Amino acid sequence: MRPSNSQDPMTPPRKLHIKSYGCQMNVYDAQRMVDTLAGEGFAETATVDDADLVILNTCHIREKAAEKVYSELGRLRLAKDEAARSGRQMRIAVAGCVAQAEGAEIIRRAPVVDVVVGPQSYHHLPQLLARANAEGRAIETEFPVEDKFAFLPPPGREAIRARGISAFVTVQEGCDKFCTFCVVPYTRGAEVSRPVSRIVDDVARLADNGVREITLIGQNVNAYHGEGPDGRAWSLGHLLHRLAEIPGIVRLRYATSHPCDVDDSLIAAHRDLPALMPFVHLPVQSGSDRILEAMNRRHTAGDYLRTIDRFRAVRQDIAFSSDFIVGFPGERAEDFAATLALVTQIGYAAAYSFKYSPRPGTPAAEMQETVSAADMDERLARLQELIDSQQSAFNKAAIGTTVDVLFERPGRNPGQIVGRTAYLQPAHVMARPEIMGRVLPVRIDSLERYSLLGELAVSGANRASLPAGAIAPSASRLVTGA
Ligand code: 5AD
Ligand code: SF4
Repeated sequence: MRPSNSQDPMTPPRKLHIKSYGCQMNVYDAQRMVDTLAGEGFAETATVDDADLVILNTCHIREKAAEKVYSELGRLRLAKDEAARSGRQMRIAVAGCVAQAEGAEIIRRAPVVDVVVGPQSYHHLPQLLARANAEGRAIETEFPVEDKFAFLPPPGREAIRARGISAFVTVQEGCDKFCTFCVVPYTRGAEVSRPVSRIVDDVARLADNGVREITLIGQNVNAYHGEGPDGRAWSLGHLLHRLAEIPGIVRLRYATSHPCDVDDSLIAAHRDLPALMPFVHLPVQSGSDRILEAMNRRHTAGDYLRTIDRFRAVRQDIAFSSDFIVGFPGERAEDFAATLALVTQIGYAAAYSFKYSPRPGTPAAEMQETVSAADMDERLARLQELIDSQQSAFNKAAIGTTVDVLFERPGRNPGQIVGRTAYLQPAHVMARPEIMGRVLPVRIDSLERYSLLGELAVSGANRASLPAGAIAPSASRLVTGA
C-alpha cells in the first residue's frame, strides 16, 4: 500500500531539508525520500534553518565519510535548539549506510537524532516519523521482506522536470561479492534485481517528462538478473537493449560494474546500441594479483586486461574509468608498482583512488600487516599524478575534434549552455537555451581545467525550434560498489 496523501490543503507544507553523502545511489534514494514525503505534505527547502525535518543520507564506505555524520549532527543540535527556542519542532533523521551499520549506536552517541532508517526501509519514513512523534524515537534497520520499490510513489511531473534531463534509475541493489575491505554487502545487503517491467515503466515515465539520459545504477549493476516479461532472468545487456527502444531516451549508461560479471550480452550491447555510451566505470582496485587475492576480488590483473580487450574489440572509441585502493594490508612496493604498470598499460580517461580505510566488521580490518601512513600518502600521490596525466591527455585529445554533446543547463556566463560528452566531460558553447535536452555536434576549440569549450557544429541549431528540456545540474559521482 502506498502512503496516502495526508496533506491538508489549508495547512502550509512542512519543510524538508535532505543532505546526501557518498554515491549516486544515495542521491537517487534521497529523491525517492523526497517523493515519499511529498505525499505527507513536505516540500523541500535548501536550508537547515527553516526545516521541520532534516535527513542526513549517509555513507559508510570509508572512515572519513562515516565521521562526517557526527560532526554534522553536532551542528544540527544547535539548529534544533534554535528552532525549539522559537517554538518550532525540528525532527532529525539519519538514513543511509551509517544508519544501517551503526543503528542504535547513533542515537546513543547523538541524542539529537529522532529517527534512524536503513537504506532498505526508507519507504517506512512516514510511519517512523509518526512513531517518533508518539514515542520520542524510532529506529528501523531491518532488511524488510517486502520490496521498498513496490511502496515508493513515482516522482511527480514537476519533480522530474526540476531534476533535469539526466536521471538515475536503480535496477539492482546490494552485493554478494564480499571483497574483504568493503562494507557494502553488510550495509546494502544481498544482491537483488528489480523486474524489467518496473524499470521500463520508470524509464518511460522519465522520458515522457523530458529526461533524455538514463544511468542505471546498482552496487554491482552488471550482476543484474531481474525477471523479464517472459518469466526468465534478463541480463544487464538484455535490459539495455529493451530500454534503448523507449522513445526519447538518447543516452544510456550504467554503474558500477564488477569485472567478473561482464558477460557477452553486455559486450553485445556496446556493439549494437548507439545510445549506450562508450564510457565504462570498471573498478580494479589493484594491479597486483597477490593483493587482488587478499581483497577477494575473484580476478587477476590479466583477467581484467582481457575484459578491457573484449570491450575494445567491439567499440574502438570506448574509454574506461576505475577505482583504486592504495595501502591495502600487506601491499608492498612491488604490488604498488604493479598497480602503476596496469594503469600505464590501460590508459584511463578518469579514475578515483583512495587510501585503504579499515572498516569495522570486514575481514581486512583484522589483517595485521598494515601499510604506514607515509607510504600510503606517497603511493596515493604517485597514483593520482599518473591518473591526472592520463585524464589531461584524454581531455586534450578532444581539442580540434567534433564531438556529440547532450546539453543540460545554462552555464555560468550569460548565453552559455553546458552539456556533457559521451565521456562525461563538461562542454560549454554559446547558444540559445532551446538546445537543452538535445544531442548536437560541437567543435572543441580549447580546454579549461576539466571543461571543453567549443562551438556548435550544426548550422541553424541556434535558430531552429527545438524542444526545451528541464534545467538542472547533473551529478557525476559514481555509485559506490563493485
Ligand atoms: N577503504 C578505501 N576505499 C574503499 N573503497 C571501498 N571500501 C574501501 C575501504 N575500506 C573504495 C573502492 C570502491 C570505491 C567505491 O570505494 O575503491 O570501488
Ligand atoms: Fe561488492 Fe564492489 Fe564492495 Fe566488492 S567493492 S564487496 S564488488 S560493492
